Amino acid sequence: MTGLIITGTDTDVGKTVFAAALVAATGARYWKPIQAGLDGETDSQTVQRLADVASMRIVPEVYRLKTAASPHAAAEIDGLEIDVERLEPPATEAGQPQLVIEGAGGVLVPLSRRMLQADLFARWDLPVVLVAATRLGTINHSLLSIEALKRRAIEIRGIAFVGEANDDSERTICDFGKVRRLGRLPQLAELTPTSLATAFKQNFSREDFV
Ligand SMILES: Nc1ncnc2c1ncn2[C@@H]1O[C@H](COP(=O)(O)OP(=O)(O)OP(=O)(O)O)[C@@H](O)[C@H]1O
Ligand SMILES: [Mg+2]
Repeated sequence: MTGLIITGTDTDVGKTVFAAALVAATGARYWKPIQAGLDGETDSQTVQRLADVASMRIVPEVYRLKTAASPHAAAEIDGLEIDVERLEPPATEAGQPQLVIEGAGGVLVPLSRRMLQADLFARWDLPVVLVAATRLGTINHSLLSIEALKRRAIEIRGIAFVGEANDDSERTICDFGKVRRLGRLPQLAELTPTSLATAFKQNFSREDFV
């Protein structure tokens, strides 16, 4: 892994929690280039807490937007426009921990009036992991996300489910979407660095991500 993008079928599906598990399991650094919403803990702070890593493993955000909204709208509220030229992933050198990049919201979230997030992923030319909930509606959201990624020739490393088991939904998405199921992070009653690391180890193979 030189860089792996964590995207999702929606906002609030569990990208940050999954990214934290991945950072802890692989030793990678974490980067959330666009943080929209500064009330409460930011995604970078959540990852640092849940992965239980030193702050040097967290690459600073490029845009810290006040409002929890789509990046294009949050940027406009702050009186600026997101410039994709500023969103180049930090270089990873040989021997250095690699990089987990968390996107904002879902695949087709606008970054500006001109660009969707998936267009930025295509420009980066890095593989993505799609985080999908297992709840009702996930088949539609997941297959739409997969189509949007494939249309832009973005490599999909696989799909990571989050939530209670739903074997039929998971199988249906992987069959129609022709994507690999990487595992499922169960709903954890207590979310701590230890419970998360254990759940990741039990349900995913670290080798799929390095
Ligand atoms: N496996 C899990 N077990 C328990 N709670 C979880 C799990 N995964 C996610 N959550 C909870 O669900 C909520 C949303 O998760 P998370 O912040 O990871 O979503 P996200 O996709 O990163 O959202 P955003 O689009 O805002 O970045 C959080 O409150 C988080 O603690
Ligand atoms: Mg997040």
